[in-house]
Amino acid sequence: MAALRSTRDLGLAPDYEGKVRDMFDLGDRYLIVTTDRISAFDVIMNDVVPGRGIVLNVMSLAWFDHFADVVPNHLITAEVGDFPAPFNQHVDALTGRSVLVHKAERFPVECVVRGYIAGSGWKSYGKDGTICGHRLPDGLQLADRLPEAIFTPSTKEDEGHDENIPFETVVEMIGDEQAGILRDISLKLYSEGSAYALPRGVILADTKFEFGMVNGKLTLIDEVLTPDSSRFWPAAEYRPGHEPPSWDKQILRNHLETLDWDHSPPPPALPSDILEKTSRRYHEVLEILFPAEAAKWETIL
Ligand SMILES: Nc1ncnc2c1ncn2[C@@H]1O[C@H](COP(=O)(O)OP(=O)(O)OP(=O)(O)O)[C@@H](O)[C@H]1O
Ligand SMILES: [Mg+2]
Repeated sequence: MAALRSTRDLGLAPDYEGKVRDMFDLGDRYLIVTTDRISAFDVIMNDVVPGRGIVLNVMSLAWFDHFADVVPNHLITAEVGDFPAPFNQHVDALTGRSVLVHKAERFPVECVVRGYIAGSGWKSYGKDGTICGHRLPDGLQLADRLPEAIFTPSTKEDEGHDENIPFETVVEMIGDEQAGILRDISLKLYSEGSAYALPRGVILADTKFEFGMVNGKLTLIDEVLTPDSSRFWPAAEYRPGHEPPSWDKQILRNHLETLDWDHSPPPPALPSDILEKTSRRYHEVLEILFPAEAAKWETIL
């Protein structure tokens, strides 16, 4: 498999380049290519992690399928041969890492669900014992499991960091009916996702979903339950009081911490063994969660 840093290297001109995805605006549809770019501390590295984009894309597709009875999703096809020209001429480069999807009218909220306390949730709890207006029991330790999973929405910021908001703010933004539906579906997806992952040795500590409207129907969009949108913790290493190593970027972050780099661009060049180890971690998590998919994509991964 050839690693892909940018669709520009294929002679294509994306309309939008995110940290990870290149997007092509096709009117009522998007063509989304998940590249092998990786960011750390919000800085996109110059080096790529071979196959990372394929793992993220294949994993989202597997979850879309897993949740097909819970909520419709944006997928039209992942078959590159069925893409419109000129994309269908790049079967080798795009297979496994790209999807043609319905363009959604996005809800301006990140639907975060937390089953365990970490990250910005832990910070907020430390300040006043709450997260997004949910009062939590006293005496929780970092990484503790919450009595029940909670919906902790945040704004979707184009610039800078997303900000946690109380449920009432979501109600003000989109109305109580839609807000309630987003909350209930998010909690259901988290709970079913956790029930699938935990027996396989993976704790879904928290995650973020995005939804939009497609032809008047509430639709799951973007990526789903990937290591980029979620905290995946190895259950075997779980110990409250410590934040378990995250499954994916820890090797890279640990390496970067050993350098004299101030976390602003330009990023340092990365040694090939760090990139290879990171790549292997991504393959590993796909193998653990969706072994049949990992086997199916093995030849290009
Ligand atoms: N079906 C869809 N309709 C409309 N927008 C979508 C759809 N699917 C995904 N998106 C948007 O496309 C973008 C994907 O790009 P990417 O994930 O690379 O961005 P990013 O830099 O990570 O930014 P973000 O933090 O918003 O995810 C996201 O902003 C997501 O909300
Ligand atoms: Mg994203």
